[in-house]
Amino acid sequence: MLTVGIITVSDRASAGEYEDHGGPAVRAACEERKWEVQSEAVVPDDLEQIQRTIRAFSAQGCGLILTTGGTGIAERDVTPEAIRGIMRVEIPGFGETMRMRSLEITPNAILSRSLAAVVDSSLVIALPGKPSGAVECLGFVEGAIPHSVKLARKEPTSC
Ligand code: MTE
Repeated sequence: MLTVGIITVSDRASAGEYEDHGGPAVRAACEERKWEVQSEAVVPDDLEQIQRTIRAFSAQGCGLILTTGGTGIAERDVTPEAIRGIMRVEIPGFGETMRMRSLEITPNAILSRSLAAVVDSSLVIALPGKPSGAVECLGFVEGAIPHSVKLARKEPTSC
């Protein structure tokens, strides 16, 4: 069973200025896939808080950590920088695939700096903030998730 942590990265949602829709949309997508959502958080677009939450979720045993938001080019968008600051290795194919497939849906997908990386013993995937975009991107890369999580957790794999 895949255990998942979901982190919504948004100044306004974390301040309670609007309801978080990204986290619940990603949670529903995980539940559809019978993945167990173990931990959830809403944090501001703050590099250290994003890093702290990822590390805490990894220590809690989340093999997969999904962030939503902060991947764009606004001044406060720092999710990629936060992940790159603590990762062991980036897996560029995830970001490439998410952008390539999303471009068939919207030209604005080119603005997302979405990525995946191994942090501690977790696979971290940074999804865009728009709920539909986050769920679409998860769907584009889900086939590679179980194997990547096993490798991140140093579990035996068949290949
Ligand atoms: N990807 C998909 N599949 N669908 C979308 O609607 N929106 C884009 C992009 N990626 C989108 C998408 C837009 S409009 C932006 S600005 C970037 O993701 C970055 O979003 P973020 O800063 O909220 O992470």
